[in-house]
Amino acid sequence: MDEFMKKNLDRWNETSAIHAKSDEYDLESFMKGRNSLHEIELNELTDVKGKTLLHLQCQFGMDTLSWARMGASRVVGIDFSNVAIDLANSINEELKLPAEFICSNIYDLPDVLEEEFDIVFTSYGVLVWLPDLDKWAKIVARYVKKGGTFFIAEFHPFMWIFDDENKSELVYRYPYFQGKEPLHFTSEYTYTDQDETIKNVETYEWQHTFGDIITALINEGLTIKSVKEYPYTLFPQFPFVEEVEKGIWKFRDDKYNVPMIYSIKATKE
Ligand SMILES: C[S@@+](CC[C@H](N)C(=O)[O-])C[C@H]1O[C@@H](n2cnc3c(N)ncnc32)[C@H](O)[C@@H]1O
Repeated sequence: MDEFMKKNLDRWNETSAIHAKSDEYDLESFMKGRNSLHEIELNELTDVKGKTLLHLQCQFGMDTLSWARMGASRVVGIDFSNVAIDLANSINEELKLPAEFICSNIYDLPDVLEEEFDIVFTSYGVLVWLPDLDKWAKIVARYVKKGGTFFIAEFHPFMWIFDDENKSELVYRYPYFQGKEPLHFTSEYTYTDQDETIKNVETYEWQHTFGDIITALINEGLTIKSVKEYPYTLFPQFPFVEEVEKGIWKFRDDKYNVPMIYSIKATKE
């Protein structure tokens, strides 16, 4: 693992524990039966009953386990954070769903996981951590069974170009066409919590263009079935968005009508 990824791993190990205690993730209501999945994926992956599902970058597995609660016959969640995977395992010790959690860098997954799946799923805040999109698409395609489906719902790369500290308007700050070098960020806080300060302040993130994401999947032989874009997001990405319903954030007064999330559904034929 290179230095960039090691820094990101330290950060995720520290923040996963904070997220698990946060109101945003609301683990307490999840344990009582709440489904943590969002309308976007629920509307697109309607038929999981009896299917096997691989969840890439699952953090502590609430979404993974939600698919199992909805009837998936076996779910496997993978993440490189050992803290997140330990949490996922302890959650499932109580819930006893047909799930397995594996601690692995996504790029090393073929060393530890053999089988193929009916569905490969990944969502919200995953691709910025990955330096090599072509290698990622290879992993995705490797795990989709013939006749199976890949689904991603993710924050739109268009939105990462704007200054998230400007208090009143969208102002260009970061390149859309970033190239291979990561952007270096430092922050003492994680997205769920402005009270608890973090020791591992550094992250390295990669901007991947919408075109690159779609092309990487096509190059691995997947057939794109749908590409959708949505004018809202799931967190207060800018100071001037408002929560229009629980967990759904839009620009105040619809000031900007822009794509904030996208989803892609693809199959292996
Ligand atoms: C924002 S979370 C996404 C998960 C899900 N949307 C959630 O909120 O729980 C990103 C996850 O990617 C994981 N991750 C980052 N880089 C990774 C890598 N190279 N291999 C595997 N997991 C990675 C992190 O540990 C983290 O759990």
